[in-house]
Amino acid sequence: MTDTSNFLPEVSPADDAAVNEAVEAAVEAFEQANDLDELKAARIAHTGDNAPLTLANRLIGKLDKTEKAGAGKRMGQARGKINKALAAREEQLQAEYEARMLVEETVDVTTAVRRRRHGARHPLELLQERASDIFVGMGWEIAEGPELESEWYNFDALNFEPDHPAREMQDTFFVEPADSHLLLRTHTSPVQIRAMLERGAPTYILVPGKTFRTDELDATHTPVFHQFEGLAVDKGLTMADLRGTLEYFATSMFGSDAAIRLRPNFFPFTEPSAELDVWYPNAKGGPQWVEWGGCGMVHPQVLRAAGIDPNIYSGFAFGMGVERTLMFRNGVTDMHDMIEGDVRFSSQFGMEI
Ligand code: PHE
Repeated sequence: MTDTSNFLPEVSPADDAAVNEAVEAAVEAFEQANDLDELKAARIAHTGDNAPLTLANRLIGKLDKTEKAGAGKRMGQARGKINKALAAREEQLQAEYEARMLVEETVDVTTAVRRRRHGARHPLELLQERASDIFVGMGWEIAEGPELESEWYNFDALNFEPDHPAREMQDTFFVEPADSHLLLRTHTSPVQIRAMLERGAPTYILVPGKTFRTDELDATHTPVFHQFEGLAVDKGLTMADLRGTLEYFATSMFGSDAAIRLRPNFFPFTEPSAELDVWYPNAKGGPQWVEWGGCGMVHPQVLRAAGIDPNIYSGFAFGMGVERTLMFRNGVTDMHDMIEGDVRFSSQFGMEI
């Protein structure tokens, strides 16, 4: 918008034609204003301090007596016309503005909103957290170790014979070059050794963690899975302490009616060793015994490998599969569901499991 005030002609209050012309120019400028801002600019140009009619008004006093009265009347009428035209145009533009705002600012409350799906925490993660909470509640600590592990921690220190079948290629992901003696840990038990070396005795730790074996993926197997590992080392620990701990773990996980039983078994790193079954009253197919994991008293060789004197300390350890636990505890029948990462699977479990 251009400011035309500088170009408006000077007007004498005595000059009827000039005053009329100035009034018409003002009225036209108001009419041509397209919005309230333009109208304001036109108003300043035609009625402001420097507008021709304003200046003309000031000249009335300087006129001859004979002209004064006529000029005053003329200027009064001019002002009246201008104010009227201005008010009319202002009312129009204000109404237009309001109508436009009503359209532009309309909120359609019936429009469908785009809903973003919320993420969900994975039930395997939640289950590991729940187990951790149970043990932290008993004063145990959470420990961890590397997933890429050295053969010594994963096997040798755990008393595996050099020709133990578990070391063989079909079970273990070895990492090249072979003489690096690195592998993807096949269980969380190497953290027993790391924890004892780092913390000494006594020690009470739970290790939730990722483990790897060369299994084909099917409904009940996966090459990448998780375990809970427990280790307690102290003076005078016995099988009764192991039993009591596992019973408490089982009832916390599966309800107060849950029970455990131990069946003799063999692990190189525990002696005696046992298979752990849990009585799960709320199982999908009715109450039943379910194989849950392995356990036993820490082998004296293992304590020795971790620098702990087996004549002073004894320990117990246990390990169970997290996927397996989720399967029978929460009725998941296909391992694929756990690893595909579909949020619709995870969100079924909510934030508490
Ligand atoms: N590490 C054993 C496994 O993966 C389980 C286990 C842990 C057994 C601790 C005894 C003590 O099968």
